Amino acid sequence: MSRQATRDDEDPASRWWATAISDISPGVIRLRGYPVADLIEDASFAQVVWLLLRGDLPSPAQARLLERALVAGVDHGPQSPAIAIARMAATCGVGINNAMASAVNVLGDVHGGAGQQLMELLARIDADDALDAVRAALADLKARGIHVPGFGHRFHPVDPRRDPLMAAVERAVSDGVVAGRAYRVATEIERQLAPIPMNIDGATAVIFSELGFTPELGRGLFVLSRSVGALAHAWEESGSGLRNKGPIPRTSLPAYTGQPERRVGHGG
Ligand SMILES: CC(C)(COP(=O)(O)OP(=O)(O)OC[C@H]1O[C@@H](n2cnc3c(N)ncnc32)[C@H](O)[C@@H]1OP(=O)(O)O)[C@@H](O)C(=O)NCCC(=O)NCCS
Repeated sequence: MSRQATRDDEDPASRWWATAISDISPGVIRLRGYPVADLIEDASFAQVVWLLLRGDLPSPAQARLLERALVAGVDHGPQSPAIAIARMAATCGVGINNAMASAVNVLGDVHGGAGQQLMELLARIDADDALDAVRAALADLKARGIHVPGFGHRFHPVDPRRDPLMAAVERAVSDGVVAGRAYRVATEIERQLAPIPMNIDGATAVIFSELGFTPELGRGLFVLSRSVGALAHAWEESGSGLRNKGPIPRTSLPAYTGQPERRVGHGG
């Protein structure tokens, strides 16, 4: 016979994992107070992401803008280190979760995670004094030898995700959905940094900032989005039948820049 699950808010064991997110008891699942059946029926995935992270459901317009950012970041093919790594992992005999986690693990400050740093920068710069404040911030980064996060791309002169995302932000500003302060600062950075383009990390960071997410959550949201591509690519690669697929074809050898052959105990 199964033991009855109990909750006693005074009990240290019940308080151990105290959470305001999910209220789970036998036969009951409520997320932020909403019965899961209602969410299944009426809420989109983007709305539920927002609900769990922020505590309340977003307006349809806020959810739509968030969803656009989540759609934009899903995939950048095997040129994206995260995706190539997921595909390699899939040929190594690990599970699909390990392949996805391998991708997630490389979404750092330079690849996929730069949005977090840009969000921190955007929060520090006064949008009402964008021209001078951006000039000072760029000079400071340059003096410290730091690339401006969210700008630059290995091969897109214009990132094809930039314009549709920024157009969506412009509409959201004119509809009163977001204030446009992060947008003003980011586009001023782009203007002063030209011709170095805003990239996907940058464009999504603008949206996450406009929607009021903290920088850490911005990175988490990007990871969530890119996980979709990691899953799809890991799954496709696992169907290839290849085993132990390396980063370059086996017919190409990495250049060797070390010592010529030498023998232990002879010279040196
Ligand atoms: C994405 C990134 C790694 C691409 O690098 P890359 O194509 O190898 O570009 P390079 O580093 O060769 O840059 C070419 C020139 O533009 C400059 N540049 C490129 N991105 C820059 C940036 N974000 N801020 C300032 N200068 C930048 C480089 O300093 C270099 O100048 P130089 O020719 O005078 O040396 C680089 O732009 C970067 O680190 N961006 C910031 C991190 C980021 O947003 N990552 C997410 C990528 S989607």
